[in-house]
Amino acid sequence: MADFIRNPVVALPDSNPEAHFSEEELVFTPEEKAKIVDYVAQYPTPDGAVMWVLWLAQEKFGFLPPEVMRLVATELSLPYAQVYGVATFYTQFFKEKKGTFVLDVCTCFSCQFCGGYDTLAYLEEKLGVKRGHTTPCGRYTLQEAECLGACGSAPMMQVSNGPYAYNLTPEKIDALLAAMEAGKPLPFVSVTLPQDEDEMGGNRRTDAEAVEHYVVPPQAKRTQ
Ligand code: FES
Repeated sequence: MADFIRNPVVALPDSNPEAHFSEEELVFTPEEKAKIVDYVAQYPTPDGAVMWVLWLAQEKFGFLPPEVMRLVATELSLPYAQVYGVATFYTQFFKEKKGTFVLDVCTCFSCQFCGGYDTLAYLEEKLGVKRGHTTPCGRYTLQEAECLGACGSAPMMQVSNGPYAYNLTPEKIDALLAAMEAGKPLPFVSVTLPQDEDEMGGNRRTDAEAVEHYVVPPQAKRTQ
């Protein structure tokens, strides 16, 4: 047997952890099953719909422990390993329970140059929790993220797989946290591409209204 199998560099996950959900909870409703049928119908084979169904499961259960991934695998008649491989590849799929708000702070190249680590350190100090952890109150999970595709507006972070907060400063972070604390829409200004700013009325997308705030359902709604 190859040495890396006997002594893996990265610890292998517990293959039989304690379940978070009971057998009775681990079901899709008839409405959810109908959605899954719709998703599957869009692809030549059911595995094409795996990300849709994982997302649906995450919305329902709040995160994707092994028993939820197994439910998805069963529903799509796929091997568990295939579903596990997809769920563990994307950080947007939560493999463990997260806080009400998940703060993904980008520290990739552009954000790093523009203060991504300062942003992370500022949030660590404000929230009293290190990156990769959830505050004891369960309200915030602070994470370090790879490039989120908004390098021109660095430093930035994403909130709960939803809105992007751009060009972060301590003041902007304070305003964001205050809005989250108060349960208000997050202050948000749509970012423009410089050459499009005038002709598109300050909106980079032609198919969307310029907005001043962005509403994201707190993840707690799904996990409670
Ligand atoms: S480097 Fe941060 S969004 Fe690309």
